[in-house]
Amino acid sequence: MKRTYIKDLNNFIGKEVTISGWVDIRRDHGKLIFIDLRDMSGKVQAVALPNNKDAHEISGKLRSEWVVSATGIVNKRPEKMISKNKETGEIEPQGDIELELKKVEVLNEALTPPFDVRSDGHDINEEARLKYRYLDLRRPRMQKNIRNRDKIISFFRDYMHKNDFVEIETPIMMKGTPEGSREYIVPSRLEKGKFYVLPQSPQQFKQLSMVAGFEKYFQIARCFRDEDTRGDRQPEFTQLDFEMSFITQEEVLQYTEAMFIELIKTLYPHKNISSTPFPRLTYKESVEKYGSDKPDMRKDKNNPNELAFAWVTDFPMFEKSEDSGLAAAHHPFCSIKDDDVEKFMSGKDLLSVRANSYDLVLNGYELSSGSIRIHKSDMQSKVFEYLGVSAEDQQKKFGHMLEAFKYGTPPHGGFAPGIDRIVMLLENEPNIREVIAFAKTGEGRDLMMGAPAEVAEKQLKELGIELKIKK
Ligand code: AMO
Repeated sequence: MKRTYIKDLNNFIGKEVTISGWVDIRRDHGKLIFIDLRDMSGKVQAVALPNNKDAHEISGKLRSEWVVSATGIVNKRPEKMISKNKETGEIEPQGDIELELKKVEVLNEALTPPFDVRSDGHDINEEARLKYRYLDLRRPRMQKNIRNRDKIISFFRDYMHKNDFVEIETPIMMKGTPEGSREYIVPSRLEKGKFYVLPQSPQQFKQLSMVAGFEKYFQIARCFRDEDTRGDRQPEFTQLDFEMSFITQEEVLQYTEAMFIELIKTLYPHKNISSTPFPRLTYKESVEKYGSDKPDMRKDKNNPNELAFAWVTDFPMFEKSEDSGLAAAHHPFCSIKDDDVEKFMSGKDLLSVRANSYDLVLNGYELSSGSIRIHKSDMQSKVFEYLGVSAEDQQKKFGHMLEAFKYGTPPHGGFAPGIDRIVMLLENEPNIREVIAFAKTGEGRDLMMGAPAEVAEKQLKELGIELKIKK
C-alpha cells in the first residue's frame, strides 16, 4: 500500500492507510498497546487492540527506535482522550487522530540508543552526542534546527536571485588566501611536493568574478580554517558570500539590512529587532563606548526574542603582526578610506589608516565582515609592500590578482555573513555545533567518523610523503 505521511493523516479519517517511520515510544496497557510513531512529517499515536491478534502481538514486541511500517484505520479520537499540554493548551504529539492498527511490519530492529533521543539533549554529554550524531539528530530540537537552517539558506538564495545575483561555485582546491588563519593543505599526487589549500573564504574568486563581468555574485560557500575552535567557530563553516560591482559601502549596508529585516519578518516573525535602521558605530566609537568591536546592544539581555543588529564601520586597515611588523586587520584587499589615502601613500602612521570595511554585529557576535575593495594593481601592490611581501613574493602569491586588476576591473565590494552564527542566534542556541548537522569537537575532531585519521602507507608513498612523526 502506498505510504502516507503522518502530517496528512487528517485527510484520511475513517480510511485505511499505511505509514512508515520509527517507534517513538510504546506504552503497554496490557490489552491496549499504544505506540507513538514518528516520521519526518510528525508523530501520531497508534493503538493495537486485542481483537487484532497479529498486530497486537507484534506491537507488544516493539521497542523505541525500531523502524516499522504500520497499516490501520485513521480514527478521530474521542474529545476527552485528546491530551493537551497543561501549560500551552496545545494538542500533544499524538494529536486529535489515532491509527487503529491492522498490520504492523518490522522493517528493522534497533539497539537501545546510548541516550534519550526524545529530550532536548542539552544535558547529555556532547562527546556522546557527536559520536552518535545520526541518533542525536533524531531529537526534535535538532530536526528543527537543521530544517530551519535549510529554510534560512533557501531564503537567502531566493533573495539573492530576486536581486539578480548569480550563484557561482568557486574551487575548494586552490592556492593560499591571506586571510589571517592557518590553512588546511591537500597534497598533490601529480606534482609531488606541491599542495593545494582549502579556501578560508572565496575572497579572491569573488573578486575575480567581478573582473569577469558578473557584477553580482553570491555563493553559499563552505570555508575552511585551521584555527582553535570555539563556540562560534568550526574548522569548516558556511558563509553567504556575496560581491557587487559599481557599488558603494552605503549600498552594501542598505542591501544587507533590508535582507535581514525581510528574513526575520518572513521566518521569525515572533522576534523583534531592537532598532531599525540598525545603529551605526565606527570601530573607534564602538571600542571607546563598549570596549569591543562587537557590542551587545540588546535592551534586555534575557529576552530570547530580541535581536540587536548594529553596524561597525571604519576598521583600521592594519594591525601589529606577531613579529611586530604589519598585518592586515581584515584582509589585504580592503580599500583605504578617501580621507586616509594621503597618509597611506606617505607610509607614515599606517596603524591609524582606516579601511572602507564594515561588520554586521548581532547580540554581541560578529555576524559578517566585508569591505569595498582595492581594484587597482598599484594600490594593491602597495598594501602588500607594507605587509612586508617582497615584489617577487607578490608575483608568486598574488600575481593573478595584480594582473587581473590591469584588465578593466570595476570598483567592487561585498560581504560574507556567517550562516552558522545566524542560525545559532535565531534558534537561541548556545553554540554553532547545535546548528551544524555533522559538527566537529572543539579540537576539530569528527567523533562519529573518527577524523582526522591516518592514511595508508601506500597513499602517502604515491604522494611522495614520508612521515617523521610515527605513532
Ligand atoms: P571573515 O573572515 O570576517 O570575512 O568571515 C566572515 C564571517 O564568517 C563567519 N566565520 C565563521 N563562522 C564559523 N566558524 C568560523 N571559524 C568562522 N570564521 C568566520 C563569521 C564572520 O563574520 N572574505 C571575507 C569577507 C569579505 O570581505 O567579504 C571573510 O571571510 O560570521
